[in-house]
Amino acid sequence: MADKAIEVLLDERRSFPPPKGFKKSAHVRNASVFNTARKNPQAFWAKAAKELHWFKPWKKVLEWNSPWAKWFVGGKLNASYNCLDRHVNSGRKNKAAIIWEGEPGDGRVLTYRDVWREVNKFANVLKKLGVKKGDRVCLYMGMIPELVIAMHACNRIGAPHSVVFGGFSAESLRDRINDAQAKVLVTADGGYRRGTTVPLKKNADEALADAPSIENVVVVKRVGAESGAQMKDGRDHWWEDLMADAALWCEPEKMDSEDMLYILYTSGTTGKPKGIVHTTGGYLTGVTLANKWIFDMKEDDIFWCAADIGWVTGHTHIVYGPMANGVTQVMYEGTPDWPDRGRLWRIVEKYGVTIFHTAPTAIRTFMRWGTEYPGEHNLKSLRLLGTVGEPINPEAWVWYHKYIGGGRCPVMDTWWQTETGHPLITPLPGLTKLKPGSATMPFPGIEADVVDEKGQSVPKGGGGYLVLTKPWPAMMRTIYGDPDRFVQTYWSRFPGKYFTGDGCKRDKDGYYWLLGRVDDVMNVAGHRISTMEVESALVDHSSVAEAAVIGKAHEIKGQAICAFVSLKMGIDGSAALVDELKAHVAKKIGPIARPDEILYAAELPKTRSGKIMRRLLRDIADGRAMGDTTTLADPAVVAKLKEQYEEE
Ligand code: PRX
Repeated sequence: MADKAIEVLLDERRSFPPPKGFKKSAHVRNASVFNTARKNPQAFWAKAAKELHWFKPWKKVLEWNSPWAKWFVGGKLNASYNCLDRHVNSGRKNKAAIIWEGEPGDGRVLTYRDVWREVNKFANVLKKLGVKKGDRVCLYMGMIPELVIAMHACNRIGAPHSVVFGGFSAESLRDRINDAQAKVLVTADGGYRRGTTVPLKKNADEALADAPSIENVVVVKRVGAESGAQMKDGRDHWWEDLMADAALWCEPEKMDSEDMLYILYTSGTTGKPKGIVHTTGGYLTGVTLANKWIFDMKEDDIFWCAADIGWVTGHTHIVYGPMANGVTQVMYEGTPDWPDRGRLWRIVEKYGVTIFHTAPTAIRTFMRWGTEYPGEHNLKSLRLLGTVGEPINPEAWVWYHKYIGGGRCPVMDTWWQTETGHPLITPLPGLTKLKPGSATMPFPGIEADVVDEKGQSVPKGGGGYLVLTKPWPAMMRTIYGDPDRFVQTYWSRFPGKYFTGDGCKRDKDGYYWLLGRVDDVMNVAGHRISTMEVESALVDHSSVAEAAVIGKAHEIKGQAICAFVSLKMGIDGSAALVDELKAHVAKKIGPIARPDEILYAAELPKTRSGKIMRRLLRDIADGRAMGDTTTLADPAVVAKLKEQYEEE
């Protein structure tokens, strides 16, 4: 975050106590829960786990050999059983599970029984294709109900899913398939986005040219002939054909609490994405409780998390949390501005959405579009709002509260990560006095701290690095296939503590103010992208000798991708080449990683040991006074770059 933004954030003095209705009827109304959880975290989490259905109870709540955790040791359960069978067997069978809106205006409503039936059938399809417990299944799809069905079908038979965001390129998909050694790929012929179609199957074919572990591909027909999808005999199958004669019942696999539930890839500080591993019992316990308490989920709520299932938010707040709690939710395909900028608010009004969850980038975009769009719709059904993914500036928070929430809906600013499984720093709507821009306090049962370079706790009022000091059930267990990197990345900087990679300040009341990443990870419109990934994509282009990428402060997206590039001898830095390089990165990684700015540099500023000084590049891009330049090999390089940048 830019210095000025941090100052504004920390100067924020407005506060919002819990509305009366929430104080009276929220799931959590008594602050003693924090103490109870602190005194005996294992008893606290065990009580939460007991809300789920277990085929076999656990013998031990926690086995902790830092950093290796095992929760609910010896317990057996099944995630799809908990998210579906439990509801089908207890009076919710005719309740709408998913109200789906497709982009071209089509829609479907699936009851819990509908989802349960389709999940059973697809689980049988996967089995028939040879998928066994422990085999990985890759899912590369848009936001259609079949994605949710496929995920639950995977967990029903104990096959961990690895969902790859539909906006990722063929190469990104290939790398993720290969890392997980997935056996089956489930995709769609295409998906709708802003009036055009995304060629999912075409990308998948490109990826599969070099992904030999995939034996079978299942393709949902979403777009039809327009997609131009080709089917390869023997390997590719239409979803509808396989489902036509699939048996209706599939016995849920009795999974060990510590069996892998899924892998989800996220960016780290190196170019290679990390496969974050979540396990069954701990993850499900954490997300069930967190969804229920933070969003105050009740029987008649209509919940809508407007995230994509390709990210962890969609896993936790669409597929697992709300479904474990048996609520009705809205799911949509496409974007908020198509066919027009009133789309989301029309959906809220149409279905009477009561809880709405989105990201700060979206809120800032709505703000820029103006109040006329939400103003045209009746949003009175809303009772609670959520935000996640990036620091939210107080102005955006207050706008959201006022114009979307009508001043009556508490705003839950939820801080967490792919690795943490569910929100860890977050308000509770019946208890927490909200301060716009602060994610407030740790969730019950979570122990966090803000520490300095040496790992010493920083007193209230000070800033440093956010760490987590005690294990929690939904924490990641490892990086798939790379346990050393798990230890190195998260547990080595401050031994015994989980390092989040986020800067944080605690105010005198103990509120946490997240300040953005302190490592080489960017947060662009809520998407986590590593500087190294973009740099590798740039140097992969035949004209580029060297590249340095930074996240530059951006009014709407939080950060924008800014690249400094030096070209190979004899190559001219033309405007056309800038466009070509941007397109090259988009092709290599996906459109979300397309640089906003590319600047040619004769040389990049380096330390005497040859390390690129990104900090100085950030200063240049954000127009700040230059930080310490004494370690530079050649200070003239950076002075020249600054001059050049200011001219452009
Ligand atoms: O920097 C933090 C930021 O998003 C990072 C995690 O990204 P990802 O794993 O993609 O998960 C995003 C959705 C959970 C964090 O390290 N972040 C997430 N939520 C917030 C946030 N920063 C500030 N405030 C938040 N509420």
